[in-house]
Amino acid sequence: MKLSKIYQLFFLAGGLGFFLSACSSALEPTTLKDGYAGKFLIGAAINTNISSGRDTASIRVLQEEFNSVSPENCMKSEVLQPEKGVFFFDDADQYVKFGEENKMAIIGHCLIWHSQAPHWFFTDENGKDVSREELIQRMKDHITTVVSRYKGKIKGWDVVNEAILDDGSWRESKFYQIIGEDFIKLAFEFARAADPDCELYYNDYSMANEGKRNGVVKMIQKIQEAGVKVDGIGMQGHCTLNFPDLNEFEKSLLAFSELGCQVNITELDLTVLPGYDPSVGADVAASQEYQQTLNPYAEGLPEEVANQLSARYTDLFKLFLKHHDKIDRVTLWGITDDASWRNDWPIKGRTDYALLFDRNHQPKPVVKELIKLVNN
Ligand code: XIL
Repeated sequence: MKLSKIYQLFFLAGGLGFFLSACSSALEPTTLKDGYAGKFLIGAAINTNISSGRDTASIRVLQEEFNSVSPENCMKSEVLQPEKGVFFFDDADQYVKFGEENKMAIIGHCLIWHSQAPHWFFTDENGKDVSREELIQRMKDHITTVVSRYKGKIKGWDVVNEAILDDGSWRESKFYQIIGEDFIKLAFEFARAADPDCELYYNDYSMANEGKRNGVVKMIQKIQEAGVKVDGIGMQGHCTLNFPDLNEFEKSLLAFSELGCQVNITELDLTVLPGYDPSVGADVAASQEYQQTLNPYAEGLPEEVANQLSARYTDLFKLFLKHHDKIDRVTLWGITDDASWRNDWPIKGRTDYALLFDRNHQPKPVVKELIKLVNN
């Protein structure tokens, strides 16, 4: 064969290769929800600025990148039932309608939680603790009213939030003090009766801690033995650049999956700010005083820290992908950095960079990396 012919063939093959790779990369997904389709849902917690339609810039990101929503605050009991028997459904109705219109998997959060619950829930007209029977009845009324209202519309409810402490013992909440351990089983039974087809979850923070892992496993086993089905366990996932230890996180994920429960990563975010105390977990009641030194990135995030954030999110998603058969959903606790609760917790008024989209609603470089992870 003449040398020129060889060159021609060489160029032809090269051109074909280039064409094929251009075609395949044109077919590769470019958004989070498309990239992770078939692996797990990609969710975001949304606030009422979004569900009311006001925050159009965030809505655009949500529609492009996510396929599930969680209500950041509007379905908590202090909002839904501020007074005994007086329900406020406007925001929750709007949230569910928004989720339906945008064809999202709609999550309910959360029915029974010691925090963001109205005071009347636990006390009588004299300000004393109500009886066990009364608190069970109140729990039943709340759960039945709320779950029935959205029957068939909500994919799954966080039925109980944060009942176990880091050492595996029970949190001394009013539910636990007045009703005892049974409150969890009862809550699941009431929810199941109100919507038999809805998925029901137990949700908690710092789930990578060995003590909490063992405590949650023991608690779930006990209610399973009583014949009550728990469809899923939510690992909140409020992280820092080095908390939690991902090996421990993986152990918990596997332990929960072995119980026969799907795992949901329900509240993923990642603070880059100093002063975080891991023993506090994501206890919303924790608060620290503001100090300038604890707010070092108010003018912008140094490249070095931005790279650490990318690497950490990548490691987390590598772990989620490894166990995608056990995970149903990964939900970020917000869409853009400006709307993250971490700017105000546990210290008010800081500038954090906890989410995947920045203050200008632009994807951070890591978003591309996360999509690449699945494409490869
Ligand atoms: C947070 C919200 O993001 C804040 O807006 C609110 O002030 C406090 O609650 N664990 C949970 C979530 O289960 O409901 C919490 O959400 C964050 C910690």
